[in-house]
Amino acid sequence: MPARDAVVLTNGPTWDVKSGRKDGRVSLATNVDLRSQATSIISLPNFFAAHGFNTEDFVALLGGHTIGTAACKFIIERIFSINGSVIDLTIDPLFLAQLQSSCPINGDGSSRVALDTGSELVFDTSIFKNILNGHAVLKTDQSLFSISDDIVKTLINLTQKQRFRKAFATVMPRMSEIRVKTGVNGEIRKNCSKVN
Ligand code: HEM
Repeated sequence: MPARDAVVLTNGPTWDVKSGRKDGRVSLATNVDLRSQATSIISLPNFFAAHGFNTEDFVALLGGHTIGTAACKFIIERIFSINGSVIDLTIDPLFLAQLQSSCPINGDGSSRVALDTGSELVFDTSIFKNILNGHAVLKTDQSLFSISDDIVKTLINLTQKQRFRKAFATVMPRMSEIRVKTGVNGEIRKNCSKVN
């Protein structure tokens, strides 16, 4: 519900959120199947496909980065050659300079930069235009451009406002139905971030 409300408050589409989902009785970080920045982007479409999502679902979901910010620590190794990293040459050079100035090499890793430069407070399609122009902030977002022609075509399709809104509002409720617990294996949490 907070995710849906954040989208609505930033001019995005709305969808029904079913309440009463049963979650696990144990909550351990080691049990969570989340993708990190270290995840190979190539594996992501398969990861989503395994949960029944097609290319448009997958790309629309990552379009969630049309709002919000990321901590500099998540991009520092992408924009400087440090700790054995090499600068990511898929970044547009002018945008690279902009990111380097927002997240300086010895700066505060917890400073934040917009995920969708120029439009982080509005749910719109500029995240896809930014990816197509080499202006994505996260490596995973920029890498979408290099996975396949099918994904590039989808990025272009989703620059159509109505198409993105519809795809996003359709896929988000499906996300919340992944791996719902049943019977005694789960409980309806009083506070969604911790077990009862
Ligand atoms: C492969 C999948 C994904 C990866 C690797 C990823 C990665 C990240 C990272 C590194 C951040 C910055 C976190 C921070 O600085 O604290 C972030 C923020 C965010 N992500 Fe994702 N993300 C993914 C999928 C999604 C999806 C599916 C959505 C929504 C449908 C989403 C919505 C957001 C939002 C709204 C923020 C901003 C949070 C804020 O402003 O505090 N992400 N993501």
